[in-house]
Amino acid sequence: MKDSAKNASMTDIASLKQELAHQIESARDTKTLEDVRVHVLGKSGQITALMKTLGQMDPEERKTKGQELNALKDEIAALISSQESALKKQEMDAKLANETIDITLSPRPAATGKIHPISRTMEELVSIFGAMGFSVAEGPDIEDDWHNFTALNFPPGHPAREMQDTFFLPDTPGESDPARAKKLLRTHTSSVQIRHMENNKPPHKIICFGRTYRSDWDMTHTPMFHQVECLYIDKGVTMAHLKGCLTDFVRAFFNNDSLPVRFRPSFFPFVEPGAEVDIGYVKDDKGGIRLGAARDGEEQRWMEILGAGMVHPNVLKNCGIDPNEYQGFAFGCGIERITMLKYGIPDLRTFFDSDIRWLSHYGFDPVESRN
Ligand code: DAH
Repeated sequence: MKDSAKNASMTDIASLKQELAHQIESARDTKTLEDVRVHVLGKSGQITALMKTLGQMDPEERKTKGQELNALKDEIAALISSQESALKKQEMDAKLANETIDITLSPRPAATGKIHPISRTMEELVSIFGAMGFSVAEGPDIEDDWHNFTALNFPPGHPAREMQDTFFLPDTPGESDPARAKKLLRTHTSSVQIRHMENNKPPHKIICFGRTYRSDWDMTHTPMFHQVECLYIDKGVTMAHLKGCLTDFVRAFFNNDSLPVRFRPSFFPFVEPGAEVDIGYVKDDKGGIRLGAARDGEEQRWMEILGAGMVHPNVLKNCGIDPNEYQGFAFGCGIERITMLKYGIPDLRTFFDSDIRWLSHYGFDPVESRN
């Protein structure tokens, strides 16, 4: 090996060590330390270059210098690693110090959605009727002619069917009974009365909610809307129960203990006697309305909100119930209609526009308490 190479490579391991140790200790952050590591131990680093010179030495010298160089490499690597841990700790401490959480800040409101007024009304109805002992029943939107019409005492060709024009679907293949083969979108939730009575034993005390369909479209009619239906069948149920239950319901729903309620005779094939139920209101001077009883000098006006009656004996018979043993009442009500009245929503069609501005105006906060 040439003297010059030997001198250049192996001169002073001790002073090299000192110099490298100084560089390592003066590295103030992990990034600088990494640069030092690459510079010293990397592929073309200082110690790596010295290691490469070992191959040119004679065996005796290689042995001693090899040991010295390996010892240097180990010491430097250990220094780098302990400096690295110290710097990492420092950096973490500094980060934690800067990232303190200000627990005195008031919480920001979470971005929440709104409850649609229809859903809100249904929740209110569940609590009102739940308190009176009713449970919730369900039925399908796609009905057959039997449940929507025939069993409800609308025989085929009966003119009352004309009032409920709907959307018809293809018949069920292979069904021999025409009333069960014919499929349609239900025109009212009254079909759920039939399903419930067919599948359960009396007494029956249910309400049911759902979408209903008719081919209508204007300010006050949409092809899809919602109804709530109520059915109470037991021994000795009378029209007095119907009046009491309905009056309690509308007064609770509209938060008005003296809301006038009026029953007018009306016709529905599935009840006898049948009635339409009106609630009282007065016109105010700003062109709006106020639900409630007229005061001195005001004119008491009435608006219809639902249909009701004593369940027709034919309907009970169609569901296998003996009308001499059991009687009861039913009523059906449009959910949009009572929601519009309660919350002053002027146009029915806006319920189904899916306009987020409408919902943020008329919708309800999920955590808001009822009433
Ligand atoms: N189903 C009727 C309709 O949609 C409403 C109705 C009237 C339901 C009288 C009833 C009832 O349960 O007894 O027009």
